[in-house]
Amino acid sequence: MHKSEKEEYGVRKLEISDKGKGFIDLLHQLSVCDSVSDKEFEDRFRDLAALGDDHVIGVIEDEASGRIVATGSVFIEKKFLRNCGKVGHIEDVVVDSSVRGKQLGKRIVNFLTEHARSVGCYKVILDCSVENKAFYEKCGFQEKSVQMAMYFA
Ligand SMILES: CC(C)(COP(=O)(O)OP(=O)(O)OC[C@H]1O[C@@H](n2cnc3c(N)ncnc32)[C@H](O)[C@@H]1OP(=O)(O)O)[C@@H](O)C(=O)NCCC(=O)NCCS
Repeated sequence: MHKSEKEEYGVRKLEISDKGKGFIDLLHQLSVCDSVSDKEFEDRFRDLAALGDDHVIGVIEDEASGRIVATGSVFIEKKFLRNCGKVGHIEDVVVDSSVRGKQLGKRIVNFLTEHARSVGCYKVILDCSVENKAFYEKCGFQEKSVQMAMYFA
């Protein structure tokens, strides 16, 4: 039976074997991502996996090519404010340039926001460039505040 696009492009959590499916190559399309050795990848994967539901990386694998074509992560921050509330922070959302415009970015962001909601966050936030504002508005976000940054490298 032929699978619908929705079934074919389902979101799942990152797996350790995804390094071999182009996960790091995909991150290169977002920002500086020097070559990561297998050992470095495995160590970081285990560190993050140990955080359980407090850190989730979603991916979409193109079943036809076996390549990772979309990803994004969410980190759950635990606060004292808001009755010891929790906030989700979305990071590192990227869709492979060959499959942009097919709702995959939206699917990744929905997966991450639903995760934040399901673990009890009262809000989910992210930073983005002016060029991507309209995309996140389509995903249900509203502009709020100003981002401040200090880079060390
Ligand atoms: C931004 C990005 C993740 C969007 O992914 P995508 O899969 O192409 O987006 P989608 O197909 O899910 O788009 C969802 C909706 O947003 C719209 N949209 C997407 N990018 C947009 C943009 N830059 N400006 C305006 N609207 C945009 C789409 O037209 C679509 O609208 P519709 O639902 O009315 O049809 C992708 O372009 C990308 O990876 N860019 C490079 C990396 C990057 O900038 N990441 C964001 C870091 S903050």
